[in-house]
Amino acid sequence: MCGIVGYIGDHAAAPYVIEGLKTLEYRGYDSAGIAVLGSKGATIVRSVGRIRDLEAKLPKRLTGKVGIGHTRWATHGPATTDNAHPHTSADGRIALVHNGIIDNAATLRTKLMAAGVPFTSDTDTEVVAHLIARSDADTLEGAVLDALAQITGTYALAVTDSGHPDRIVIARNGSPLIIGVGEKETLIASDAAALVRHTTRVVHLDDGELATVTAGGFHTFDREANDTGREPVEIDLAATDLELTGHAHYMYKEILEQPERAAAVIRGRLDARFATARLNGLNLSPRELRAFRRVKFLGCGSAYYVGQIGAQLIEDLARIPADAEPASEFRYRNPIIEPDTLYVVVSQSGETADTAFAVQEIKRKGGTVIGAVNVVGSTIAREVDGGIYLHAGPEIAVASTKALTNMAMAFGMFALHLGRLHDLSYADGERISNALKAIPEQIQEILDSEPAIAAIAQRVAKAENAFFIGRVRQYPVAREGAQKLKEISYVHAEAYPTSELKHGPLALIDPAMLTVAVVPDDELASRNIAAVEQVRARGGEVVAITHEAVEFGTMAIERIVVPKTEPELDPILLIIPTQLLAYHAALVLGHDVDKPRNLAKSVTVE
Ligand code: F6R
Repeated sequence: MCGIVGYIGDHAAAPYVIEGLKTLEYRGYDSAGIAVLGSKGATIVRSVGRIRDLEAKLPKRLTGKVGIGHTRWATHGPATTDNAHPHTSADGRIALVHNGIIDNAATLRTKLMAAGVPFTSDTDTEVVAHLIARSDADTLEGAVLDALAQITGTYALAVTDSGHPDRIVIARNGSPLIIGVGEKETLIASDAAALVRHTTRVVHLDDGELATVTAGGFHTFDREANDTGREPVEIDLAATDLELTGHAHYMYKEILEQPERAAAVIRGRLDARFATARLNGLNLSPRELRAFRRVKFLGCGSAYYVGQIGAQLIEDLARIPADAEPASEFRYRNPIIEPDTLYVVVSQSGETADTAFAVQEIKRKGGTVIGAVNVVGSTIAREVDGGIYLHAGPEIAVASTKALTNMAMAFGMFALHLGRLHDLSYADGERISNALKAIPEQIQEILDSEPAIAAIAQRVAKAENAFFIGRVRQYPVAREGAQKLKEISYVHAEAYPTSELKHGPLALIDPAMLTVAVVPDDELASRNIAAVEQVRARGGEVVAITHEAVEFGTMAIERIVVPKTEPELDPILLIIPTQLLAYHAALVLGHDVDKPRNLAKSVTVE
């Protein structure tokens, strides 16, 4: 959510900044801008729309070797050129880009305006540029520290000063910021993905940390100007992982990658000898794990829904009470943190602000929190007590797919591990372990049926409203299915537990309402079929995501059949067709699948 890039080195900065912004475009794509320092001060170019629109506006000769750029997801003020970053001080000397929210911006703006400072945007960010310019400090670092002392809120900031053209000063509090150390060049970005084409040596700044970045390297310090002496680390991310490799969309590429990625998350983690999973990153001994009386999953959006799948897996396999809650709500309800509850935060990006704040709340109150996180070295990954990395590879599409599958796979292993420390038998351990191993191939089977799913998506695309229904283990599948459809096709979709239809929503069923029913071959199949019958009896159209063995008799419905796994793991496979349904429906409707309107990946603001 909002992406920041910067370059200082031996080469012209603009191409590096533009390339980095294109990589970060998933973080926001309503407007963008760049500042390049040259001999005559800063050249600022800003544009509404995509990075390609910004690129088209760049002057021919933009040779300055220091540059910062920003791709915006609007929080304060609409997406206009004036509101696009970089923002500048009144004299044009200071230029800065910002990701986050300045909470006291309105108060500061009033004060600055009373002092005669002219404002040119509606943003919260602009106050910071003016505060820096008005500082009496001799150095840019001092001026930035002065400004930070006056603001509250979250930020990743990158600041240039045409009076000090040899540096970029950066600061972080609550929004990610990474330094990439190259040969005679240093880069900065919100996400390592924007750096890896040039270097894999990075420093993840911590909250409260700042840095001076020069062509020769960097120097980190804290809010009291004390040296924090950070050293770069190597990251395991290849530039080729970020390419579209001939696919039309990242979302599609990521859907297709699932068999390979699901195999990666279990690789080396299933222990045949003891019919369990080996999850060393948890940093919890068997004795410590056994002592937990409850497990609580926390995540936002789709990560929360997969947390619900995780909770059910824990209850099924470990027989410990478990539940899931949106991390965005948890923090604000003064949650009771129990010492015998294990908290599990779930996040692809590892940067979601609501989830990161939940981690801080749990830790402040003495709880134990582990993470299921995809991005190595991300904020949440660094703050939790331990966890399971998801090994899904970089996920670029705003709509999450492969990371969610790997979260569910990781929870399968986690529940297996916990179960085997409690009452799960060796035989049941083997049953789950073998089933997990088979899932990558079974996902491939589902992907092979894409043409049939794409044909059904034609019908989905025509719907104005859709219900997704599923029961118990399958209710989170329905929620995720509805979420995906809403996100990228903009078809209004709501999820209900199948059993709840008759308690109200059935009133909305008519021929114009489409129902996607998740009906696995399990002990509830006959009840679920009865619910489908009730929908059909009222003229509603039904698409069933189901197993071969489920008999719908002569009912006129569309069926998408997925392979059967063990009942506890069924949700992992039943979700896959919902991704393809949403993807193909969005294609039919002509939407930009990777960049759905109003959304951005990695929600780093509250
Ligand atoms: C949906 C989606 C979002 C994310 C949510 C949490 O497709 O991607 O609902 O799941 O914003 O993001 P992470 O997992 O990065 O914390």
